[in-house]
This record gives sequence, C-alpha cells and structure tokens, in this order.
Amino acid sequence: MNQTRRKRRSDPPLSSRLDSLSPEMPFPSKSPSLLSPRVRNIFLLLTFCSLTFTVFTYCTFRRDQISSIARSLPLFSTQRRHLLFSIAASRDSWLRRSSYVRLWYSPASSTRAVVFLDRGAGGLDPDLPPVVVSQDTSRFPYTFPGGLRSAIRVARVVKETVDRGDNKDVRWFVFGDDDTVFFVDNLVTVLSKYDHRKWWYVGGNSESYDQNVRYSFDMAFGGGGFAISASLGKVLARVLDSCLMRYAHMYGSDSRIFSCLAELGVALTHEPGFHQIDVRGNLFGLLCAHPLAPLVSLHHLDAVDPFFPKTNRTESVARLIGAASFDSARILQQSVCYDSSNIVTVSVVWGYAIQVYEGNKLLPDLLTLQKTFSTWRRGSGVRSNYMFSTREYPRDPCARPLVFFLNGVGSDETGGTWSSYRLHSVGNCHRAEAVKQLQRIRVFSRKLKLNVEQMNPPRRQCCDISSPYNTSMVINIRQCMPDELIAMVT
Ligand SMILES: *[C@@H]1O[C@H](CO)[C@@H](O)[C@H](O)[C@H]1NC(C)=O
Ligand SMILES: *[C@@H]1O[C@H](CO)[C@@H](O)[C@H](O)[C@H]1NC(C)=O
Repeated sequence: MNQTRRKRRSDPPLSSRLDSLSPEMPFPSKSPSLLSPRVRNIFLLLTFCSLTFTVFTYCTFRRDQISSIARSLPLFSTQRRHLLFSIAASRDSWLRRSSYVRLWYSPASSTRAVVFLDRGAGGLDPDLPPVVVSQDTSRFPYTFPGGLRSAIRVARVVKETVDRGDNKDVRWFVFGDDDTVFFVDNLVTVLSKYDHRKWWYVGGNSESYDQNVRYSFDMAFGGGGFAISASLGKVLARVLDSCLMRYAHMYGSDSRIFSCLAELGVALTHEPGFHQIDVRGNLFGLLCAHPLAPLVSLHHLDAVDPFFPKTNRTESVARLIGAASFDSARILQQSVCYDSSNIVTVSVVWGYAIQVYEGNKLLPDLLTLQKTFSTWRRGSGVRSNYMFSTREYPRDPCARPLVFFLNGVGSDETGGTWSSYRLHSVGNCHRAEAVKQLQRIRVFSRKLKLNVEQMNPPRRQCCDISSPYNTSMVINIRQCMPDELIAMVT
C-alpha cells in the first residue's frame, strides 16, 4: 500500500516537496507569504541540509547499533575452553585434596587449569591439571601478626598465570583453592552475562556476617572462587607487585587482590552461586535453600560433613557433580509443590534432597535456610550472624519433615531427566497416614537451558505431585503458568 502511494506521488520538484512538508514545521507555516523569495530560498536550503543530515545520522546510528549487536554476539557463546582455572595449593594439601579437583577437572571436555604449589611438583597425572611451582616471594613484606606469608604467593598466582602466556582464547581467569569444587558449565553460563573485553571482577563474599565485617563485604572471598576478565587480568598482572608492597599488613591473598583492584577503580560484581562456605558441620540447610541462580562453587569441603548419608566427602561431591552432568543449571534449584487433598507440602531440591512436610507450609518459610550448620569460628563469644535469613532446625528428628536423598539420575531420549530419591530413615516417628508408607520419590524434569535472558531475572519453577501415592511418589517439575502461584489450593 505504502509503496504504491509513494510511486503515484513520484518525483515532485524539490521545492514543492518541501512545501508539502512545511505545514508541519512551526516557522514557515506561520506566514510564508511574508518572506522574501531570497530568504525563502536560504531557508529551503537550510531545511534540505538539516533533513539530509538527520537521515544520514540516523543511518549511521543504526549501522553502529547493528554492528555493536553483531560484535557482542560471541559473548553469548562463552565456552569451557574460554576459562582458565588457577588452583592455589601447597604440596602437603595437594596430596589430599587433588581428589576434589579430579571431580570437576575434565580435559576431555576442555577444562583448562593450572595448579600452583609451593615446592616439589611431583608426577604427571593425566586426570589432573599440570602443576607448576610458584616463584620466590621472599622480597615482599608480610606483617600480619600470626598470619601466613603464603598469602603473597597465592595472590601472585593471578600474575604468574597471566605471565605464563598460555592464554590463547582465554576470556576469563578463574581462581580457587584445592578444596574448591567448581560447577564449570554453570560458571560458563554465569560469565556469559558479562563482556570479557571490559574489566570485570566477579565472585561472592562470605556467608558469615562477621567474616565480611573482618575482611570486606565487597571482597570476593578467594576459596569460593572468583573470575577476572582477560582484559582486567592483563592489567592486574602488570601492577600487582607494587600493590603487594603496600598491603603487607593484610591477612590473606584475596584481600591483596581486592585492594589492588580497588586501586584500579574496579569493584566486585556479586554472583550468588559462588560459595565460600564459612560454616562447619551439616550443610543440609544451606544446600536446600540455594539462591535462584546457578550453583558455581563450593569450598571448605574438609570442614563440612559429607552431603549424603553413608558416603565420604569425595563420594558425596561426586554424586552432586554426577547429577549436575545431567542438568547442570538445575542442580540445587528448589521447587515446592502442594498436595491439597492430603495437605502435604513437598520441597524438591533437584539433584540433592526432597523434604516432605505434613501440613500446609507457606513458600517464604521454605525458602528460608534451616540452621543445620555451626559457625566458622569456634569459641564461646562467637555470634552466629549470617548473610541470609535462617530458621531453627528441630533437634528432634520426628519434628522434622521426612527427608529423601538423591540416589540416582537418568535421562530418556526425549530430553527428559528422571532423578530418584530414597527416604532417609530416622527411626520410629508418628507420621500422617498419607506419607507414612512413603519410601521413594521420582522426579521428572526437562533439561534447564538458561540463556542470559532467562537469568535476568530468573523465575522459580513449579511442580505437580501425581496422586495418589503410597510407597512411591512421582513429581513433575515444569515452568509455572504466567499467573500461577506457588501455594496450596484451599
Ligand atoms: C571415599 O570412598 C571412596 C569409595 O569408597 C574411596 O575410594 C576413597 O578412598 C574414600 N575417600 C576417603 C578420603 O576416605
Ligand atoms: C500401600 O503399600 C502397602 C505396602 O506395599 C500395602 O500394604 C498397602 O495395601 C498399600 N495401600 C494402598 C492403598 O495401595
């Protein structure tokens, strides 16, 4: 339609075309007849020029916009091989803790990593990253009373990694300890939100309020792992040694990195999937209320109990990573479903555990962490202040919900995933009729594919219980309807 109209009006002389525009324009529409022909011509010329300019600028702008979109496309295809992990270890700790690194390091799926030791590299193991010995740091001062000089060596891992020069295609330098376990695919997903050509410092702080007071709320705690974009890493490597001279009074390596980045004018970008784990004992409550964000890391594994019953620490991390290999983005993601006919509430933490509550529990209460763990610092004067809301975990096991732990995951040909959970028996408790025979729960879900759009902001998924159930319950996790509420229908 438009085109035919334009054709019919074909090629009027320039002046008449501008005339036809003139009623829209405030100035000439007032009283064009009052203008002398000369002034009028000048005006027409100016109008023509400004129109040409506008059209030209608009086109240039569009072209810039389009090419900037095109340039930013590779951002969204950040892959494993674009990440280089540097693991800070000592010869003594490495012998014990390399079993954790073995769980997430997989050169076959292009994980790149280097381990930095204080001395004696040892033999070559194809299932472990290459090991290098850190450079001598005796020329740097260290004055923190009772602290460990190794903080300087560990801080310099950042510089020595960049200086090694084996950085082809590296978009992100990632740092962690030998007792840090990374969920690599989730880290790739999280980092793909950020432009690696800009200066980014991405990580998380401590779960412990007091630890954050002591060090900084704005510091990435080193054991939880942090990522530095390649462009920032190169600059940091050049200036780090001069910072190390100025921050001799600080305790740790992460404080030194944080201070030097602050001097470069760079602040931390908080990502909730990094976990320093500054708590001890039973992590159940913490793992069962993970933020609505991909799980990126877990640290301090030697200070916490195995996550699953009748396993050691390595086995329990292996089980979590094994589940993540089926649906990485979904690991530890919590969905809550309600059985209105039996008044039962079920909290599913995918890949880890399910809690079955008798009664109608409101969602906000189930998203609050159960305090199953104890403080990082020991002693009587220590307060248990955390960076999140907590609720008490009943001492009496019969006052707790029924707990089911993951015991298997599998997938079918249609892209669906089955995970199964078995009752963790805690003795002879009186339970409601509807749940007292329950032994197993099977959960069906579809692989969660997160793109940048879906993470900004994310939405919790819904689930349904297939009634009726007796010894075994079946749950289906799915996307919520647009205005569906996660609540019991009463
Ligand atoms: C944990 O269990 C596995 C399998 O049973 C075993 O190979 C490994 O040595 C154990 N690790 C520790 C630290 O006990
Ligand atoms: C539930 O399972 C138990 C044990 O297998 C069985 O004895 C009982 O009859 C079942 N109840 C129903 C309603 O199916």
